[in-house]
Amino acid sequence: MPPSPALPLRVLSGIQPSGQLHIGNYFGSIRPNLSYQGKAEQSFFFVADLHAMTTVQDGNALRRAREDIILDYLACGFDPATSVLYFQSQVPEHTELMWILSTLTPMGLLERAVSYKEKVEKGIAASAGLFTYPVLMAADILLYQANLVPVGRDQKQHLEITRDLAIKFNNAFGDTFTVPEPLIREDVAVVPGVDGQKMSKSYGNTIPLFGDEKAAKKAIMGIVTDSKGMNDAKDPETCIIYQIHKLFLDAAGQKALADEYRNGLPYGEGKKKLLQAYSDFFGPMRAKREAFAAKPDLVRQITEEGAAKAKRVAEETMRKVRKAVGLL
Ligand code: ADP
Ligand code: TRP
Repeated sequence: MPPSPALPLRVLSGIQPSGQLHIGNYFGSIRPNLSYQGKAEQSFFFVADLHAMTTVQDGNALRRAREDIILDYLACGFDPATSVLYFQSQVPEHTELMWILSTLTPMGLLERAVSYKEKVEKGIAASAGLFTYPVLMAADILLYQANLVPVGRDQKQHLEITRDLAIKFNNAFGDTFTVPEPLIREDVAVVPGVDGQKMSKSYGNTIPLFGDEKAAKKAIMGIVTDSKGMNDAKDPETCIIYQIHKLFLDAAGQKALADEYRNGLPYGEGKKKLLQAYSDFFGPMRAKREAFAAKPDLVRQITEEGAAKAKRVAEETMRKVRKAVGLL
């Protein structure tokens, strides 16, 4: 549940720079996050580069991924006039608060974290950083007294840990933190990949958001279909091409396309239409991305100004925290 409308909305969201973004990230995360711009009293968007270090252990790769994701955000419509954009590592208070929270964090709470177990099962090294990932995430959120955190279903447990830690701290040291409400994007259906499973960089089934347009074309033309004949009636509900294409359309457009499939639209034609929709939709964003990429000083200025604004809020919270725990 979102907080009561009487409360000024303070929205916060983070995204890890851990690989090229795909259209599942766009429709499932970036677009819904950016939709709060202008509606919230304040919105904070940050690049979780410290979190990404739990999986990206190559300095050049991290540097590239950090730069890419800032350009992605700007291309997708981030507005520096109404929101704050920064790198987590630019505000050292994140790690300071993480330490303080970790002294209150029961081991059992982290041992129950599903995402840790899943990552280790996938072969990611079981470091102390990976284990304490949720504590850093709690610090990310509590530092800004955010009351609304839009996340995908996979992050629900991390939000519960954040709430537990905020309540525990407030009980132990007096009212310090806003207890945040998660906004789970149940409404944003999972975007399928070209093979029909959830689109994910770990499954190699993505349609990239930006990058080489030829790769996107190849991915779209390679979408898996069943063996129905060219002009046979197709079921839009089981057709992966339609399930992806509908993300680009309004209700009337979806209905019209579904009817075309029912009337025997050949899969090859459907793929061409999807490719056109993809180019029309992301083309202007691609152009915007290139324009920002050509102005590195402007991009740096946006994140530096963002970090300075974020730091002011973070410092205010940390003053309260240090005082409460006895460090001031
Ligand atoms: P990936 O699965 O490719 O590793 P991440 O876990 O880094 O993606 O996801 C970053 C954000 O994008 C998360 O908020 C997640 O909920 C969202 N997201 C990722 N894949 C999808 C998808 N297929 N459909 C909808 N949202 C997605
Ligand atoms: N763990 C989140 C993810 O993998 C990223 C993240 C880090 C985050 N800190 C956050 C999201 C704070 C919301 C709020 O998607």
